[in-house]
Amino acid sequence: MTKHSDLINKYNVPGPRYTSYPTVPHWKSDGNFPENWPSLVKSFYSENKKDGISIYIHLPFCESLCTFCGCHKHITKRHELELPYITALKSEWKSYLNLMGEKPLLKELQIGGGSPTFFSPKNLVDFLSYLLDTCELDEDVELGFEGHPNNTSFKHLLGLAQLGFTRVSYGVQDYPEEVQKVINRIQPFEHVEQAHLNAKETGYTSISHDLMFGLPKQTLAHLNRSIELTLQLRPDRISLYSYAHVPWVPGSGQRAYDESDLPSPQVKRQLYESAKARLLDEGYVEVGMDHFALPTDKLAIALKNKSLHRNFMGYTTNNTKIMIGLGMSAISDVWGAFGQNLKSVNTYQDAANAGIIPVFRGHEHSPEDLELRQIILDIICHFEATWTPEFENKSRFTQIKNELETLINDDLCVLEPGGIKVTERGETFVRNTCMCFDAHLKQDQVKRFSKTI
Ligand SMILES: C[S@@+](CC[C@H](N)C(=O)[O-])C[C@H]1O[C@@H](n2cnc3c(N)ncnc32)[C@H](O)[C@@H]1O
Ligand code: SF4
Repeated sequence: MTKHSDLINKYNVPGPRYTSYPTVPHWKSDGNFPENWPSLVKSFYSENKKDGISIYIHLPFCESLCTFCGCHKHITKRHELELPYITALKSEWKSYLNLMGEKPLLKELQIGGGSPTFFSPKNLVDFLSYLLDTCELDEDVELGFEGHPNNTSFKHLLGLAQLGFTRVSYGVQDYPEEVQKVINRIQPFEHVEQAHLNAKETGYTSISHDLMFGLPKQTLAHLNRSIELTLQLRPDRISLYSYAHVPWVPGSGQRAYDESDLPSPQVKRQLYESAKARLLDEGYVEVGMDHFALPTDKLAIALKNKSLHRNFMGYTTNNTKIMIGLGMSAISDVWGAFGQNLKSVNTYQDAANAGIIPVFRGHEHSPEDLELRQIILDIICHFEATWTPEFENKSRFTQIKNELETLINDDLCVLEPGGIKVTERGETFVRNTCMCFDAHLKQDQVKRFSKTI
């Protein structure tokens, strides 16, 4: 059998993370797109509204640039930008409310960024009170936000808790000073500890920490120590993200270091395996790719019940078919189509304030896209998928089987009648299995993705 280290060399190729299918570089934006976006929203909303909706709000501002960051952000210290941005968000949301024609049933609201806690507690609370008033809240509605430990104040936590927020995820990344210096993010353990304890005190029931492996200058000893510090606080969830090296993305700070500063693929995998072993030892459950949760957390329960879902927000317990993304660069998913908002603060605000939904590109799914989307989603969430007998009669299936052959020979997955299972050995390479089902993935486009390991 091929050695694990050889598998890493073989399968560490550029590939998508499958928060969507088709993935963004393969969107077609053809036909009447984006002019037909409002009618797509309207028709998919009326088809799926009984399941409720999710909202994602992108708050892009950060005071300083973390060099590793791959998110859509706008670096500024000008807090006077907060209110004009909120005005645009309100205007955009009003356009969606007009399309829906009623108060939608809200199942999940996630505020991400950028750094949502760049905004003052008052501005955040005022805006979110307005937004929540325009929705019917599901009795199990989940409200969460991303908090930067360096600027998430007690007031932020309390104000949002009073609105019903129960989930916060803190960006920790890694603790050693050597790594923090090169990623331009000085954030001592005491800051994270204080933010974590404040969240507990204000009633948050799901606290998550984001850690990363594969960062510049990161060693096994570094990450092991960061895991021990994290375990002192025992967050309900831990995201252990694989650092995505994409220096070609505009605005990326990743050119601040060299590829030679990054751990090798072998060391990178060791970092993950070592952290994973420790977390499992401490009672955490591995959820899909890169995530861990205490068995009492909803994410672990959803994994057990097979109700786990993945969308642009990552893994989630709410399987709504409609997710409206508000704000600069935010992506909406109405199940049959995706749409992404304009990617600069000014162009976004101008369009939203003019009463135009500021979507500039997207993709309307074909029936095949929808079928493959479900299979890829099941594989990335549950390491297995099933399909209909008709699917096996299609020429696409023959192509998929051919592509899977190498992975099957390496014992990374097994084909069964009517479905596929990823083996334990194949979990590390789950993105590679998904790639065999990706009808849009063409060799010349592969370079736009980070590597799979
Ligand atoms: C959208 S960011 C917002 C977090 C918040 N601004 C903060 O820094 O605390 C959410 C998470 O994405 C992860 N992330 C950012 N850049 C990444 C990259 N290049 N590769 C993998 N994960 C990344 C980080 O773990 C980060 O905490
Ligand atoms: S990691 Fe967070 S704080 Fe740092 S630049 Fe990215 S979004 Fe902003």
